[in-house]
Amino acid sequence: MAFELSSVVPWGRSYAEYVAMFALSDEDLKGRILGCGDGPAAFNAGLTGRGGSVVSVDPLYAFSAGDIRRRIAETTPLIMEQTRRNVHEFVWEQIRSIDELAAIRSSAMEAFLADYPAGIEEGRYVAESAPRLSFPDGSFGLALVSHLLFLYSDHLDLRFHIDTITELCRVCGEVRVFPLLKMGATMSPHVEPVMDHFSRVGYEVGTVRVAYEYQRGGNQMLRVRVR
Ligand SMILES: C[S@@+](CC[C@H](N)C(=O)[O-])C[C@H]1O[C@@H](n2cnc3c(N)ncnc32)[C@H](O)[C@@H]1O
Repeated sequence: MAFELSSVVPWGRSYAEYVAMFALSDEDLKGRILGCGDGPAAFNAGLTGRGGSVVSVDPLYAFSAGDIRRRIAETTPLIMEQTRRNVHEFVWEQIRSIDELAAIRSSAMEAFLADYPAGIEEGRYVAESAPRLSFPDGSFGLALVSHLLFLYSDHLDLRFHIDTITELCRVCGEVRVFPLLKMGATMSPHVEPVMDHFSRVGYEVGTVRVAYEYQRGGNQMLRVRVR
């Protein structure tokens, strides 16, 4: 199925949010990282600027910076309105208000847009869609999946979750997924069956509490490691 820009709501988190969501250590950040579904997040720009090695894959990267900027401008007011309506689903501590949320997201997406042309040129932003990726086995040490799996459990089925994590394990030695909640801040129904599946096939699987919580109760990541 063709990936339509009109079906995406681009929304990007900051470098600091990625570090917190995935409990990234200095050692983790020295490795080669794959971001799956990074969209307009600032993680790739931030890590590259700090001398790290990261590639992001997202079907969004088939579009130009101008197209992505226009889509962000169209959808930001809708997301802000939705957040205002569901304000109780979020913890307003690390991000203290809706205005601060808008400022953090806008600055992250500006950092992404500023880095995007160079990143495309350098092969750091690659237009590919999970669950099938073109990278050879073991190309990266760590895969990060932020706000794609589990969050969209009403649209992405269990098969997609298992196939995507299997593919990321082929390409990377370890996969981390954040959050475990779906929209509406309730636990995704896919978490348990995903964990059961990867335990059964012999991978090391666990959840880890992290020092980041924005969706209320969303302070855990899934970690799957190839033994
Ligand atoms: C809510 S955004 C999250 C962006 C970023 N990870 C963050 O947390 O700030 C979800 C992203 O997943 C991307 N996406 C959707 N389907 C995908 C797929 N099959 N493979 C990879 N990325 C996908 C979308 O284009 C979008 O950029």
